[in-house]
Amino acid sequence: RLFSSAVTSEDDEADEKDPSMLKSKFKERLQVERTKSLLGGGQDRIDRQHAKGSLTARERLEILFDEGTFQELDAFKTHRCTEFNMENIQFPGDGVITGYGKVNDRYVYAFSQDFTVFGGSLSETHAEKIVKIMEMATRVGAPVIGLNDSGGARIQEGVNSLAGYADVFQANVDASGVIPQISVVMGPCAGGAVYSPAMTDFIFMVESTSYRFVTGPDVVKTVTNEDVTKEDLGGSKVHVSKSGVAHGRFGNDIATMKAMRRLLDFLPSSNDKSTLPIKETSDPPDRLVPELERLVPDDPNSPYDMKNIIRQIVDHGDIFEIMPEMAQNIVTGFARMEGHTVGIVANNPLTLAGCLDINASNKAARFVRFCDAFNIPLVTLVDVPGFLPGTEQEFGGIIRHGAKLLFAYAEATVPKVTVITRKSYGGAYDVMASKHLRVDCNYAWPGTEIAVMGAKGAVNILYRGDNNVEQHISEYNEKFANPMIAAQRGFVDDIIDPQDTRRILCNDLRLLRTKTMPEIKKKHSNIPL
Ligand code: HXC
Repeated sequence: RLFSSAVTSEDDEADEKDPSMLKSKFKERLQVERTKSLLGGGQDRIDRQHAKGSLTARERLEILFDEGTFQELDAFKTHRCTEFNMENIQFPGDGVITGYGKVNDRYVYAFSQDFTVFGGSLSETHAEKIVKIMEMATRVGAPVIGLNDSGGARIQEGVNSLAGYADVFQANVDASGVIPQISVVMGPCAGGAVYSPAMTDFIFMVESTSYRFVTGPDVVKTVTNEDVTKEDLGGSKVHVSKSGVAHGRFGNDIATMKAMRRLLDFLPSSNDKSTLPIKETSDPPDRLVPELERLVPDDPNSPYDMKNIIRQIVDHGDIFEIMPEMAQNIVTGFARMEGHTVGIVANNPLTLAGCLDINASNKAARFVRFCDAFNIPLVTLVDVPGFLPGTEQEFGGIIRHGAKLLFAYAEATVPKVTVITRKSYGGAYDVMASKHLRVDCNYAWPGTEIAVMGAKGAVNILYRGDNNVEQHISEYNEKFANPMIAAQRGFVDDIIDPQDTRRILCNDLRLLRTKTMPEIKKKHSNIPL
């Protein structure tokens, strides 16, 4: 029998006699099972979910997808566990809703774990459902978004649920670089369960109601004797600002789902170039931006917010920032130029004077690699005094982490355009999408300084013990406090009027849409991890 409800022998006899009766009885049972599936763990548990301030797995999908477009798969799938009396506890769908639908009229696959069914815990069959949609998404070239709300491996299933997790991990890796994978943590996410989101491209969290940790507060107390709350150990604030394990957070489930719709709008459906989205725009590509002439202070040491510059350059000032609360000395995010998605990477002098440090290097390197994997052109805005000095950085491995960004830019073959807005010093000059990393178009604004180091440091070394410090500093500045030497060498293609930046970049990006680069045959590179 297809469904679990008992069927009597009288029913059987009637069915055999009358095929139309058989059909109508089946329809009735189908309706019963469908209703059960829609109700998840039942009204009580749904009420508890709402009392926490959370939506149910289905309500989240309703907000994520364009109305009426979601097609559920495997709504009747049930677990096969026979331990702990589990054969008598069945919920059609087994704690995860899977399927596909449209987001802004483009296909997206999704799974949404249902905390009302066994705490959203992952069984062997629950995993099979997730893997099925991931494989389908990879085959057809559509993003996958996973809404995680789960107590982790289903305890009753033992190693079968661990195997299920491993199958999901493998599917994550197989899909990586082929389709965008987005994870949203909307409730608990503990134990090994944290690792599937960790292998996806972007991870978002919901403020106050979501948390992620490998071991919870009780285990931490036992092992390290630390007292820590769930929120302080693995809440959204910790992960977006300290650990970097999440890329953003939003106030509640509704705001989070709406933000995901916005993010998906910027992303291609797959690594096939033809799926890059184009959005009609009324923002003219040749728009002059006189504001850019006054947004950068003349004093090279005065802070300013690079985000104001970005907003002036991109279509309608619209940017979706990735990791806005982490390593704020570098900005990463998606925007559009002439309706085409670009990845923005920009030093921000507002924090740590825009220096590159470990966290900024990691943040930007991962972003650059995503853009390169998915054919998204890179626009880099540079105002960098160098790498952040100090024992903390050196002991933390700034050499290895800084190398990631250098490596990522150098291996990226997407269109790359760079503008230096005020200064570019030392190794950071090379790293920040310099001409030498096969960047297609490099520009500098007229006030730019490009040198090995700042005047004071340089004079201290070149003229140690000399009393004429002030004179040497001004000579040094006269020589290096402008981009002319770089322009004479062809390391910047032109020194441009700031107000002309948008027009020039749009023009270059249009031209670069047909860029091709010969592939170097190798299995894969070995980026310093
Ligand atoms: C089976 C589970 C479950 C699990 C929760 N439930 N977690 N069932 N397996 N892992 C069930 C509960 O029995 C309960 O069922 C319902 O879900 C809701 O759980 P509550 O505890 O009542 O909810 P709450 O108080 O909100 O606490 C949520 C929680 C807690 C913090 C997630 O349930 C919890 O600590 N669960 C265990 C977490 C865990 O250690 N998981 C294994 C991690 S190791 P009823 O019927 O009462 O509603 C792991 C390995 C993966 O995941 C390895 C991959 C490499």
